Amino acid sequence: METTDAFVGLECVDCGSTVDADVEGHQCPDCGGILDPNYDYDAVDLDRESLASRPFDSMWRYEELLPFTRESAVTMDEGTTPLVDCPKLADEMGVERVLIKDEGRNPTGTFKDRGQTLAVTAAVQHGATDVALASAGNAGQAAAAYAGRAGLESHVYLPSRSGFTNKAMVNVHGGDMNVVGGRIGDAGAAFEEGLAEHDDWYPLQTFVTPYRHEGKKTMFYEIAEQLEWELPDVISYPTGGGVGLVGMYKAAREFRELGLTDDLPAFYAAQATGCAPVVEAFEKGRDVHEPVENPDTICGGIEIPDPGASPWILEALRETDGGAVATDDTEILDAAIQVAQHEGLEMAPTCAAAASGVWELSERGEFDGDETVVIVNTGTGNKEADVLRSHLMSQGI
Ligand SMILES: Cc1ncc(COP(=O)(O)O)c(C=O)c1O
Ligand SMILES: [Zn+2]
Repeated sequence: METTDAFVGLECVDCGSTVDADVEGHQCPDCGGILDPNYDYDAVDLDRESLASRPFDSMWRYEELLPFTRESAVTMDEGTTPLVDCPKLADEMGVERVLIKDEGRNPTGTFKDRGQTLAVTAAVQHGATDVALASAGNAGQAAAAYAGRAGLESHVYLPSRSGFTNKAMVNVHGGDMNVVGGRIGDAGAAFEEGLAEHDDWYPLQTFVTPYRHEGKKTMFYEIAEQLEWELPDVISYPTGGGVGLVGMYKAAREFRELGLTDDLPAFYAAQATGCAPVVEAFEKGRDVHEPVENPDTICGGIEIPDPGASPWILEALRETDGGAVATDDTEILDAAIQVAQHEGLEMAPTCAAAASGVWELSERGEFDGDETVVIVNTGTGNKEADVLRSHLMSQGI
């Protein structure tokens, strides 16, 4: 495999067992836990100046902190998205500064591209011919795109309620699309059946491949550099499985370990009240979530009733003095409209939970007024223009 110098292999986040990255098996052989790429940080030679001298052209500019070389990457120059100042939101939310990390500018319109560039690169390195996953929609679209680029077949399982753009684009990228009646759990069950029947399928499933959260950690590296190393006080993230959140938490600790930063920002998990297992566990002081029996939110990307990485998500929130906040679908859709009308940025409903959550925190009096807040807009609003437009119709507009 074409791995980078400091990458030493995979480590189980639950029991600490180590696994060679050459081994294709993707979960801890001892306990079934999540595997996490591990590095010898003493072997990483990165400082602020050398980073500043590199072009801001792709998330692969942080190659030393990724498992595979940039040369070997299946990439479309994803990442390096803008961090856009939103002064009107700062006023409205009663804080010093609000910035939106606009992941909608990625090749397939969401931050899922950061996970798929790495996971599909790993699939190629492992000699895969076929990749497969279940997804609420955006990850499936991204996987089909990267698989197409790499010349792999993709098998994508989407729930019937996922958006038209996602379904259409899986087809456009040449993926084998399986629309499954029901919700993400039903798509997951159909994917498991497919996987059991095809031992040559390489899973790109969240936290089954160790590389999706690893790719997403680059969002934090970019935020730190874009703010010229003055870390934000708060990062608000629309949390489903928490892949991006634990990725950024890992990244924040890596930069501190490397001496590039001194601190960690407070991470906040934003969810929808119709499916808020992380918020519930956080508020009850639990170390693990309880699955939501009847999830129901219009925000498909965060309608994840049983997030397997919840202990890791909760650690990230508590270790950084962050928190968790849920708002309802109407507030979330209102937030998307307000951001679009006041700042011009287009947020999909799922993503607008992160903005709505900050409004809620502000109303609860959680801020002093001098904070810098980053809201992660995980995906572009125009993928779900129909949902946003019909919210206006419900208001007679
Ligand atoms: C646009 C968008 N935002 C957020 C999420 C949730 O991501 P995570 O698993 O990192 O919590 C998804 C997942 O499907 C998504 O599509
Ligand atoms: Zn283990």
